[in-house]
Amino acid sequence: MATDPCRIAVLVSGGGTNLQALIDAQNRGDIPHGEIALVISNKEGAYALERAAKAGIPAVVITKAACGGDQESFEDALLAQLAACEIELVVLAGFMSILSKRFTDAYEKRILNVHPSLIPSFCGEGFYGLRVHRAALDKGVKVTGATVHFVNEIPDGGEIILQKAVEIEEGDTPEILQRRVMEQAEWIILPRAVEIVSEKIAQN
Ligand code: GAR
Repeated sequence: MATDPCRIAVLVSGGGTNLQALIDAQNRGDIPHGEIALVISNKEGAYALERAAKAGIPAVVITKAACGGDQESFEDALLAQLAACEIELVVLAGFMSILSKRFTDAYEKRILNVHPSLIPSFCGEGFYGLRVHRAALDKGVKVTGATVHFVNEIPDGGEIILQKAVEIEEGDTPEILQRRVMEQAEWIILPRAVEIVSEKIAQN
């Protein structure tokens, strides 16, 4: 028996290449059990918003500043928007805000995050974006990668769903390494993990 696809919201803060990977995967038919129904940015003018517009996906901006600078009010606004759009799965794709336990409990095992390292290396508070790659290069590791995991109240601490390793090469800069980790890992495992979890939710 056919089931309705799981309604997905993608939360972004920046360029949105991972959002694009999800849109492309959906267009290829690689996420048959999910449907990207909403994009939320916590930054005005994020390029990810243009990607959503081009793909015809409803998008809204919710900033902490517009919610009085208060995390609780910001999360209330996010939760209200997710509920209004009947969202069943939340995907953090370069979303640069740490969510409280109250928020993560509201979507237990229904929030995914992509992180640009092999967790438990180079993760947790303060490790985001290029900082992660800089830390990997400073440490001199020879292999890094990306991780998709469930989100709980511990930053980057939830159950791991998928990981993929990426080699570090001679002469890598944080920017070069970031791009390779995206191309060889993030853009591949994020859509896969979204389909895996969407299938489970859609069948419930
Ligand atoms: C990605 O590399 C993502 O893994 C990372 O930010 C980048 C966002 O790029 N996320 C974190 O560091 C979260 N801790 P994008 O906006 O082009 O998808």
